[in-house]
Amino acid sequence: MFDDSKTKTVLQVEDLKMHFPLIKGLMRRRVGTVKAVDGVSMTVQQGETVALVGESGCGKSTLGRTILRAYEPTAGHIHYNPRGSDNVVDLAGLNNNEMQKYRPDLRMIFQDPFTSLNPRLPVVDIISEPLRANKIAEGVEAKDRVADIMRKVGLRPEYMERYPHAFSGGERQRIVIARALVTNPHIVVADEAVSALDVSVRAQTLNLLQDLQDELDLTYLFVSHDLSVVEHIADRIAVMYVGRLVEFARAEDLFRRPLHPYTEALFSAIPIPHPKLRGKQHRVQLPGDVADPANPPSGCPFHPRCAYARDICKKEVPELAETGSGRTVSCHRADELALKGVL
Ligand SMILES: Nc1ncnc2c1ncn2[C@@H]1O[C@H](COP(=O)(O)OP(=O)(O)OP(=O)(O)O)[C@@H](O)[C@H]1O
Ligand code: SF4
Ligand SMILES: [Mg+2]
Repeated sequence: MFDDSKTKTVLQVEDLKMHFPLIKGLMRRRVGTVKAVDGVSMTVQQGETVALVGESGCGKSTLGRTILRAYEPTAGHIHYNPRGSDNVVDLAGLNNNEMQKYRPDLRMIFQDPFTSLNPRLPVVDIISEPLRANKIAEGVEAKDRVADIMRKVGLRPEYMERYPHAFSGGERQRIVIARALVTNPHIVVADEAVSALDVSVRAQTLNLLQDLQDELDLTYLFVSHDLSVVEHIADRIAVMYVGRLVEFARAEDLFRRPLHPYTEALFSAIPIPHPKLRGKQHRVQLPGDVADPANPPSGCPFHPRCAYARDICKKEVPELAETGSGRTVSCHRADELALKGVL
């Protein structure tokens, strides 16, 4: 379990932006900019699990991928403190060559174990691929590492010569996890890592991820639509809306007492399969769709959908501000609103 009394900042993201060109028409002309991530600042402590939540299209995957430098950020900083080192490096400022050194430290667990595994490769080749790609190990040494990580994720190393089709959905997800962890990473972005699994396998996989976190000293950025999963696994939750964080707080605080109207609406709209809570949930309507990140509304981007909006909300962008006790929120009215939680 994460102990926040002895924290070390492993990641400090500062005003990070990831904008994509918006291309339209037969001539493939650039007609605008999709501000998928638009000024995110957050710190992540070693060994914790930070969940990224928000409706589809809010920029969760883009934020995760940009932090791993799958993309070249448009602006901002990604200060990273490698394991066992006092140095801090800004990943956002590195070119691809310089970034190679850190690629093994920052890894991604992908969503779908059925499409993300090459059916024509034996499992040993699939899991050892990042070792070869990052020039970490090959031959017997790579095989030994594959056997070791297979044991850790609960797969039998004797099966490493088999092909993906010989494994069940849950086992395939363990192969995906093994491939991410074989480089001994520090930070792992799990993007909907358990979403494709059925309920019982999902619970086992979440427990496995938690055991591995303790054993291997991993820090997780956990992207999920499923708030019951998030409740189970997250130490802190970052709520995103149209490329920005609107609230960032300890998981329990957010479930008990959200400070941002979007958090209140998002959490209340999604049923939590918790026997104690069933039927007691206070539901807030979340009208309309997520704003277009190529053309976000003025002021607070949530204002067209917010039941608490006032004139100022249309005009001024609220800052993401500290509220004390480690919480941050970006709402003009955060101090005066008494929003309802779901716990
Ligand atoms: N490579 C890209 N090129 C152009 N636009 C992109 C690209 N990747 C994402 N976007 C756009 O950026 C916005 C955020 O997308 P993103 O995939 O990060 O959202 P998400 O929160 O992960 O959504 P979901 O919950 O559906 O996975 C969307 O409007 C998406 O269409
Ligand atoms: S700033 Fe205004 S519109 Fe935005 S969430 Fe707060 S009350 Fe709603
Ligand atoms: Mg996504």
